[in-house]
Amino acid sequence: MTSSVEIRTLATPQDLSAAAAEEVVRAANEAVAERGRFAIALSGGSTPRNLHTLLAANARISLPWDRTFFFWGDERHVPPTDPESNYRMADETLLSKIPVAPAHVFRIPAENPDAAAAAEAYEQTLRKFFALEPGQFPRFDLILLGMGPDGHTASLFPGTAALEEKSHLVVANWVEKFKTYRITLTLPVLNAARCVVFLVSGTDKAPALHAVLQSDASGEQYPAKLVRPTDGKLIWFIDRAAASGLKPTQLH
Ligand code: 6PG
Repeated sequence: MTSSVEIRTLATPQDLSAAAAEEVVRAANEAVAERGRFAIALSGGSTPRNLHTLLAANARISLPWDRTFFFWGDERHVPPTDPESNYRMADETLLSKIPVAPAHVFRIPAENPDAAAAAEAYEQTLRKFFALEPGQFPRFDLILLGMGPDGHTASLFPGTAALEEKSHLVVANWVEKFKTYRITLTLPVLNAARCVVFLVSGTDKAPALHAVLQSDASGEQYPAKLVRPTDGKLIWFIDRAAASGLKPTQLH
């Protein structure tokens, strides 16, 4: 079991995105060299936008797009055309700009009014793609995650039922504060990854980042704390603003 945690502090959001893009390219080339394909789960929210733009612009030659397979860590319970859709954000900033075959893009079918059915469908998609036996979890080559100011990640929000899920790969998680379901990968899937990369930028994230990295607060309260790959790398890409609440010992 090899697990490592790395915290990389970058001066600006732009530097953060550039460093993260390098890591994505590294992971992609390693995965393709070792296993012939690169399975990546994208994050939602706004932080990944700049990373996507960099990948689309600068990595055309250095990323094996024809061997890359795109998934999502979570999705809002909306159609793919909705401004809130994580798929739509990725399509606008990345997928529409790179030579990727539609068959390599596995969108969460969140247009289904029945969120649980959408989650179940996505779980079957993962089971098929990764050729899983019952009880097995998919091992993504790379999972990109963000973190909210409340310490949530993917759609694993503080105090929500999904935090307790130990067997399903994907669940519909009721988020009371938004009065909506979100569809999300579960912690066993996040923690089965070869590499998990957090992208955390901005002063609004500083208190939660301190709680996650430097306090004994519970994972129930700060779900990002529960992401610890059992046999893989965990890399936090944070900018100075998000790191402003950390004691210097954690800064690399
Ligand atoms: C989502 C994301 C969520 C996001 C964080 C941070 O669907 O919104 O999966 O977990 O990563 O909320 O979002 P920002 O990058 O916009 O700060």
